[in-house]
Amino acid sequence: MIGQKIIHLDTVDSTNNYTANLQKQGKIQHGTVILADEQTAGRGQRGATWTSNAGENLLLSLFVAPDNLSVTNQTVLTQFAALSCVFFLRKIGISALIKWPNDIYVNDRKLAGILIENTLRSTSISESIIGIGLNVNQQAFGEVNGTSIALELNQQQQPKEVLFSWLNEMNELWKLVQVGAYEKLAIAYKEHLYLKDETAVYEDKMGVFSGIIRDVDDQGFLIIQRETDLLRYDLKEIKLVGRNKL
Ligand code: BTN
Repeated sequence: MIGQKIIHLDTVDSTNNYTANLQKQGKIQHGTVILADEQTAGRGQRGATWTSNAGENLLLSLFVAPDNLSVTNQTVLTQFAALSCVFFLRKIGISALIKWPNDIYVNDRKLAGILIENTLRSTSISESIIGIGLNVNQQAFGEVNGTSIALELNQQQQPKEVLFSWLNEMNELWKLVQVGAYEKLAIAYKEHLYLKDETAVYEDKMGVFSGIIRDVDDQGFLIIQRETDLLRYDLKEIKLVGRNKL
């Protein structure tokens, strides 16, 4: 069960690093959650750092060992993690969406970020560290376009209570991963995609253009319509510039 064991640390460099160390030593089981009040070197996607006020938010890594998950289906873990956030947030009245591939957005602001690090055995994902930073009580985000549950609901929360409620969602969704209900997860993921079917401004290596997100394919690539063409992008190939039209 996910969350059957929770290791709560005061301060750590990064919960993902801490989890990877336990994994190397063979000292961690499927479903263990490593939680920290503070990270001194929190890591984000694309080599970015993840900053969070101490004690205000949820900073955690979930260690999972999927049965028979082929590398060709690795986007399932992204879908699992992102949907666990979205479903949980919607349950508490926050209309969260997924900004491709795995940022959690509420009204154009980021409420959570996900960093997944997989271990492969031959052609399967044998183990995965799913790191999630979910903003619970933080009120100000400086330069970052962020938000938190407390800002959205106008009410401070107990981070631990938030976690326990979110774990229910994780466990429900993990059942779908284990039975191979990938289509179901893919459909739910696409149903909650930020800016889907809306015109926005993007930038690729050719320049800035107006486009519309139409789909995410089975490999997890983003499909954007530009005039009459459908373009396919990997993570580093496309950037959202803004919501407004050109
Ligand atoms: C991103 O949006 O760039 C991903 C952010 C992921 C942050 C979380 S916080 C817990 C875990 N430990 C880390 O060092 N990073 C992830």
